[in-house]
Amino acid sequence: MPLGRLTSAPPLPAERARVADEVRGFLPGAEADALRSAAATYLRPGGVAVEIGSYCGKSAVHLGHEAERVGARLVTIDHHRGSEEQQAGWEYHDASLVGPDGRMETLPFLRETLALADLEGTVDVVAARSPHVASWWSTPLDLVFVDGGHTDEHATADYAGWAPHVRPGGALVVHDVFPDPADGGQAPYQCLYLPALADGFVEVHAEGSLRVLERPA
Ligand SMILES: C[S@@+](CC[C@H](N)C(=O)[O-])C[C@H]1O[C@@H](n2cnc3c(N)ncnc32)[C@H](O)[C@@H]1O
Repeated sequence: MPLGRLTSAPPLPAERARVADEVRGFLPGAEADALRSAAATYLRPGGVAVEIGSYCGKSAVHLGHEAERVGARLVTIDHHRGSEEQQAGWEYHDASLVGPDGRMETLPFLRETLALADLEGTVDVVAARSPHVASWWSTPLDLVFVDGGHTDEHATADYAGWAPHVRPGGALVVHDVFPDPADGGQAPYQCLYLPALADGFVEVHAEGSLRVLERPA
C-alpha cells in the first residue's frame, strides 16, 4: 500500500537485513518496511520508542535501525515466557525456544539478535510484563509498537498502559489487526485499534495486519 503520510524509510543495510530475515519471528517483509517507515516518520532525535513483544528480535531490528539512524532509543519489553498461542500444544509453539526449566525462554535469542545486528547500543532490553512497566513509565513516547499478548485481557492492558504515553503527534502502531474474524484473533482489533480510534487517534497507514495510528498534535 502507498505510504501516504508516512516518510519512506531506507532499506536495512545488508548485514542487518540478513539478521532480521533469519531470526524467528512474526513480521512479513511488507509490514516490516511499513514499521520502519512509521519509525522514520515519528521518531525524533533524543526521542524514545517502546515495543511490546520483543520475542526473538525481528521487529526490534527494524525499529532499532531507525532509532539508531535518527539518534533515538528503542525500549523493547517482553517477559520472554511466550504468549498463550506460543505455549506447548498451541499453533505457534516452537519447541526450540523452551528453556531447561520447561518454560519458554526467548531472552537469549533476543540478545543474540541484537548483538548480531550491532544494535545493543540503541536498544534497551526490558524483561518484564508490559503492564508492570507501564505502571511506572513516565517518558512521553514518539512511537509505541504493540505486538504482545493477544488475549482481550492483555490487549486491553496494553492499550490502557501505553496509549496515554504516546506524545501528541506521535504514533501507536498495532500488529495483528483483523477486522474480519475469519482472518485472525480479534483482541488487537477490538481492544487496541477500535478504542484508539474512539479516543481520537487517526489511522494514517495500513499494511497487512499492521495499523499506524497517529495521536493528533
Ligand atoms: C507475537 S510475539 C512478538 C513478535 C515480535 N514482535 C517479532 O517481530 O517477531 C509476542 C510476544 O509478546 C510477549 N508477551 C505476551 N504478553 C506479554 C506481556 N503481558 N508482557 C510482556 N510481553 C508479553 C510474548 O512473550 C511474545 O514473545
